[in-house]
Order: sequence, then C-alpha cells, then structure tokens
Amino acid sequence: MARGKDETAADGDLRTRLRAATMAAHDLLDHSMQAASGWQNRDDYARFLELQHAARAPLEDWIEHHAPAELRPPLQTPLIARDLAALDHAVPPPAPLFTMGRTATGHALGAAWVLAGSALGNRSIAAQVKRIGGGKWPVAFLGDAAMLGFWQRLRERIEQQAQETEAAGATCAASAVFAHFLAVAEDARTEGATQ
Ligand code: HEM
Repeated sequence: MARGKDETAADGDLRTRLRAATMAAHDLLDHSMQAASGWQNRDDYARFLELQHAARAPLEDWIEHHAPAELRPPLQTPLIARDLAALDHAVPPPAPLFTMGRTATGHALGAAWVLAGSALGNRSIAAQVKRIGGGKWPVAFLGDAAMLGFWQRLRERIEQQAQETEAAGATCAASAVFAHFLAVAEDARTEGATQ
C-alpha cells in the first residue's frame, strides 16, 4: 500500500535518509572540488576558500530569508573572508542566486543539514591543511567550533524519524544545495582548466 502523505518515513531516521539520498552527489562534489582547487599548496587552498565563499554566500542569504532561527547555521562567509584576507586574497563575487521556488516544509532543515554536515568533512580537511601548511595557513572556517556546536544540536532533530512531508522536503532541499555547490565547483574547475 502506498505510504500516506503524513506517515513517518519507514526507512530509518532522517539523517540516514538524507545521507543515502545525497551520497552520490557528495562523492561527485568531493571529486569536483579536489579537481577545481584541492588544498595542496597555498594558492590551491586560497582557491578552495574562494569557491567555498562564492557557493555559500547565496545559500546563507536564502537561509536568512527562509529558515527559522533554530535552523540557521552560524555564518561561514565572514570566517572564509578572514582566511582569504590572511592569505592576501580578495573575496570573490558570489555565485548566482540560490532558490527553491516556494519554500515548503523541510526545506530549511535539509539545507541546514548540508551546511552543518559539511563541518564533518571540514574537520578532516583542516587536519590536512594544518599538516601541509605547517600550521601557518589560516583555518577560521575549517576549524569553526560554532558550526560543530550547531551540528551537535541539529543531530538531536535529525537522528529520529520525521514526518514524510518533512523528510521529502528536506531531501529535496539537500539535493538542491548539493547541486548548487556542484555547479560552482564545476565552473571553478572549467575556469581553472582554461587559464
Ligand atoms: C573536498 C570536499 C569534501 C570532502 C573531502 C568531504 C569529506 C567528508 C567526509 C570525510 C565526511 C564524513 C565525516 C564523518 O562521518 O565523520 C563528510 C560528510 C558530509 N559532508 Fe563532506 N566533504 C567535502 C565537501 C562537502 C561540501 C562542500 C558539503 C556541503 C556543502 C559537504 C557536506 C557533507 C555532509 C552533509 C556530510 C554528512 C553529514 C552526516 O553524516 O549526516 N561536504 N564529508
């Protein structure tokens, strides 16, 4: 029998469902970001931060207008700008607008999960950056403790089953955020290849 619109999702908790739905997109993004910049030397790391800033600026803007206070992750663009300044790089222009059309149940939650969950990957990238840069490269963004704190609070909300409507909305938004990031990374990769 088809699942009723508002029954809880039967496929595990919301976090598991979001990870499963976006696993391929995350792998693609990881690959594309390493190809676009990576962080093997100072200039690569600066380009990685430029990409992060360009992609996150419109996402933070969307969150500010569409998410309730408890689903607004701490802003990362000011931290990225600080790291870029320390590397003598200017803040790049933002990527084009991010939009979800009409905001629906679960959208803010899905977007918050992607942005906050990325702090897990950032933790391992920070360890590499510290090693490669001999502890001299700035890591205000990659090492942001406030984002990890937000992530821990969000876990309580996503490590349980969600209503189907909310789970579907969150999955849709999470996929859109990954697609947005991937488009920015692919643009950066193509620009790098033609320079
Ligand atoms: C080069 C780029 C990236 C690498 C190497 C990377 C690496 C990782 C790693 C190792 C994890 C698992 C960490 C753990 O379970 O402890 C992870 C999880 C995650 N990353 Fe990334 N990541 C990258 C980029 C991104 C970006 C740009 C985003 C989003 C904007 C993102 C979103 C996430 C999310 C949502 C999770 C899962 C959170 C969860 O477990 O619920 N990642 N990443």
